[in-house]
Amino acid sequence: MCGIFAYTGKGTKDAGKVLLHGLTALEYRGYDSAGIYTPESGSIKTPGAVAELKKKVPKKFNGKSGIAHLRWATHGEPTKINAHPHSDCQGELWIVHNGIIENFKELKEKLVKAGHTFVSESDTEVFAHLVEEHMKKTKDFEKAAIAALKEIRGTYGMAIQYKGEPEKLIAARMGSPIVLGVGKHEHFIASDASPILPHTKKVVFLEDGEIAVITPETHTVYKLEGSRVTRAPEEIEWSAEEAQKGGHEHFMLKEIMEGAEVIENTLRGRLIPEKGLAKLGGLEGVTKKLAKIDRIIIVACGTAYYAGLVGEYMLEEHAGIPVEVELGSEFRYRKPVINEKTIVLAISQSGETLDTLEAIREGKRRGALTLGIVNTVGSTIARETDAGVYNHAGPEIGVASTKAFVSQLVALALLTIFLGRQRGMSLVEGKKIAKELKALPAKVQKIFEEKGAIEKLARKYSGARDFLFIGRKYSYPVAFEGALKLKEISYIHAEGCGAGEMKHGPLAMIDEKFPTVALAPSDSVYEKVFSAIQQIKARRGPVIALATEGNREVEKIADDVLYIPETLEMLTPILSVIPLQLFAYYFARNKGYNVDRPRNLAKSVTVE
Ligand code: F6R
Repeated sequence: MCGIFAYTGKGTKDAGKVLLHGLTALEYRGYDSAGIYTPESGSIKTPGAVAELKKKVPKKFNGKSGIAHLRWATHGEPTKINAHPHSDCQGELWIVHNGIIENFKELKEKLVKAGHTFVSESDTEVFAHLVEEHMKKTKDFEKAAIAALKEIRGTYGMAIQYKGEPEKLIAARMGSPIVLGVGKHEHFIASDASPILPHTKKVVFLEDGEIAVITPETHTVYKLEGSRVTRAPEEIEWSAEEAQKGGHEHFMLKEIMEGAEVIENTLRGRLIPEKGLAKLGGLEGVTKKLAKIDRIIIVACGTAYYAGLVGEYMLEEHAGIPVEVELGSEFRYRKPVINEKTIVLAISQSGETLDTLEAIREGKRRGALTLGIVNTVGSTIARETDAGVYNHAGPEIGVASTKAFVSQLVALALLTIFLGRQRGMSLVEGKKIAKELKALPAKVQKIFEEKGAIEKLARKYSGARDFLFIGRKYSYPVAFEGALKLKEISYIHAEGCGAGEMKHGPLAMIDEKFPTVALAPSDSVYEKVFSAIQQIKARRGPVIALATEGNREVEKIADDVLYIPETLEMLTPILSVIPLQLFAYYFARNKGYNVDRPRNLAKSVTVE
């Protein structure tokens, strides 16, 4: 997720100031690098957040129009050279882009052969050269932009400017949001409405496959294939802060609701379903080494650690590789037995968690191949590991990790296919997992339809001071993650427990005031979990069961039931965690807590 902002006016406002101000409102969308361009003053780019850019932009950075960008890195390190705006060979066409151009490598090869010179590793730069190439033939900015858009595959929300027609800006949307702002003698393009709102409340939301052309006085929307779209501007009453959260009350809710999109983004370009294969570009350099390894140690902390536990089950069951999962804070002070056939795999959203980082360093010292599943491109763990897989989940602002967990599980499933197919996994099994991964976004969307019921349930149980979360096999780590979500944002006692472990102690806590959330999907251990629910009910403990759609049996025994769609057993956690995230969210919100910034916690734990 990056932030883009573009402006065209009659000259009564200074475009440089308008753009910098707008980037501040978009700051939450990316802080790896920032950049600005106006045809009158040229471009300025810098690594770091918008504050860095402000320091570099001179007071006299004039212009009537321009484009600006905040980057959350996906392709290429977060350096000045990879920062947007990107331009063509002549510095005439300028682009800011949020998304990923999947076929950028083939397009780049073609363009290099045609004589184009590239300066960055960014997929976006390819688009600037592609428009340039079409301009040679059509001599028309709009036609060239449309022809280029028809050639790219992937996701984009972009703004394009041509020095030869400085008043005119083109916007395009496919998978990444674009909002037009309709002002008096001025128009805007942005990733969300927050930078537009200080200027106008009239906006037009573009839909996928649409492009828009704006000038100070006009805005025109087309479908990519050419037909005209008539959509009257709507007045929005959101505050700038609400706009950043996509109209949601908190970032946490917005990030949970991004679940389906996050799965798509983590999978994008990485599955070859018909061959039952996963293509992981970040592992290409170590493919041969990976074929020889005989053990994986996953190191992580908190939520990422629970993702690792799910990964252990996936990798052992489907790829046949022995896996252990360790807390970074434990691993770094032990004397683990490691050799050159061991992988030490770090899972980290921030890529900066000190305990995970030190565990990776320890693995390296002992001769292991180190890998990362990391969300933040260019972070320390991403840089220090030998190879890895980026999540592409976009920045996570809420302190409680939600969408990153979902994405980590998807990345682990991809790794399972990748390593499994190098070993004994059959074509049929590879295809089955790939097919089911592709079906997940629609299933996540279905869970969101139950949002209202989950909110009600959170209200019903709002008086409880303790919660137990139980699950078995793939649902075991999810039970711990559900408990962690609840305790960290609502400050009540919640603990996870293996459903089979109840009778070894925790059952003693159960009474009518101590509710249990029981993860009971219809999988290979369903009957065992069902019998744990019976044991709890026999002690008058209230039970909220999480079951697979169509299971009527569980309704007879549990007090409340939440349903998730059916999927493969190994992928169930990707669905089952979402109702638990929503439950924790509503439970804490009902208490009036600041769910995005829970007390005593920080987003990135860079201390011991
Ligand atoms: C819980 C949470 C933390 C993090 C942990 C690791 O909601 O966010 O438990 O998962 O601090 O952080 P990363 O993934 O950045 O290494």
